Amino acid sequence: MNSPFPSHAAKEAPLLRLLFQTPSDFLSRTYLLQKLSCPESTLSALLQTLTTWGYSIETHPTHGIRLLQRSFSLHLDEVRTQLPLDFTWSLFHLNETQSTMDFIKREGLQGAPHGTLVIANTQTAGRGRHGRIWSSRPELGLYLSLLLRPDFPVDSYSRLTIIAAVSTLQTAERLTHLDLQIKWPNDLMIEKRKLAGILTESHLDQFQNPFAILGLGINLTHQSTDFPEELQTKASSLLIESNQIIRRADFLVDWIQTFQKNLSRPFNEMIELWKLKCLNLGQSILVNTAQGPIQGTALDLESNGTLLLRDDHGKIHSILSGIVDL
Ligand code: BTN
Repeated sequence: MNSPFPSHAAKEAPLLRLLFQTPSDFLSRTYLLQKLSCPESTLSALLQTLTTWGYSIETHPTHGIRLLQRSFSLHLDEVRTQLPLDFTWSLFHLNETQSTMDFIKREGLQGAPHGTLVIANTQTAGRGRHGRIWSSRPELGLYLSLLLRPDFPVDSYSRLTIIAAVSTLQTAERLTHLDLQIKWPNDLMIEKRKLAGILTESHLDQFQNPFAILGLGINLTHQSTDFPEELQTKASSLLIESNQIIRRADFLVDWIQTFQKNLSRPFNEMIELWKLKCLNLGQSILVNTAQGPIQGTALDLESNGTLLLRDDHGKIHSILSGIVDL
């Protein structure tokens, strides 16, 4: 893959793993040299690289070495040290791309496996649902696409959107302690402001096998002036809402594990969690669909993600796709 950041662990990974095991404790140079089986000169060079990556490392003449502060930049080696040793997904990191969706689609068409995930620092043509633009300012948000080859049929791929929405909400709530909601079908909201969006696509690869691409964009450290002017009252970030800087690496580690766990849970549990957090159910809403706007009361969510809406004349509509005006 044409990525400036390799998918395999770099030589700095074992040192990062050791430093992360005991983040505030000193590790002696002798211990590190022995664990890494390398000479003093290699250890010094590795420490120098981690410093240029933005990690703050204290070296004390007698106590040894410890990690003082983690890097704000995303380093997949750090992410890998936080994931279980039997983690098999392939992670890629791009500095800039048009859209991570297109990048993963190209890989998927050639047969890339389940769990191929790409993150970009920025996207020049990030896109949302219904042809909207996804503002992707460098490093302020997490912009990722994940290739999935689920063990359920293509006509159930909409489940992935529900699972991703619940997983994103769980990770964001765990890291910030905010109380968040989901706007049908898959926007992560706080009050009437959007924090994250999910885009799901399905394709057939060159071997005629189906695959899904899940795209997630979450606003982490934006200030409101970082959004395009027309979005400033409609969009928000975890920083604006919680006053906390959530690093992309921390969000990613939690999200991957949450999503993997949720993917293997019975889907009806996901639907129930989704309903608990949905801000539309029971409310009078206006949904803009491809067939035109429908005003009514949101009654329920069906198992494939379809919204049941009773219009003002009492007619029930099953809506698979649309945009809800708040
Ligand atoms: C939406 O709310 O309309 C969905 C937004 C999805 C945005 C993400 S950012 C990463 C991935 N790449 C894209 O071009 N879009 C998705």
